[in-house]
Amino acid sequence: MLETHNREEQQAEKPSVFLSRRQFIQLGMAGLGAAWAGTFVQGQLFPAQGSSQNAAPVSFPLSELPVGATKTVTFAGVPVIVVRTAVSLKAFSLVCTHLGCLVQWQPGSMEFYCPCHDGRFDQFGEVIAGPPPVPLEEITVTVDGDRVVVGEVV
Ligand code: FES
Repeated sequence: MLETHNREEQQAEKPSVFLSRRQFIQLGMAGLGAAWAGTFVQGQLFPAQGSSQNAAPVSFPLSELPVGATKTVTFAGVPVIVVRTAVSLKAFSLVCTHLGCLVQWQPGSMEFYCPCHDGRFDQFGEVIAGPPPVPLEEITVTVDGDRVVVGEVV
């Protein structure tokens, strides 16, 4: 009799493996709060890439971009660099394709460098070192008369 009583007491003290309805709802609310907070922090740390599909083109005088020079503009809410060499005129988003840091143009080596994780891209935006999974996003750039036009759909 005494032994039976002890088993009942032990079973009564044993915590249930199932959540009560209140605990389930509290856990769900905590999860939603954590997901919202994570999204907010990510948005603050990494600049969002704007949609370049519907963005208005940006233009500037060709005289502001002599051969060998670069010019940075904002297109679709994203910093874009226009690089003019003796043989080409290219524009790239400066947002690294790894985790969204801003890359830097290095004219001496003719490369883009990402200081966050030592990512490197060549002058054509192709990955040459580090963790970036894909090339930099190339933006359409044309010359219309005496103006450089960034982002115009050709
Ligand atoms: S964010 Fe550019 S290499 Fe990681």
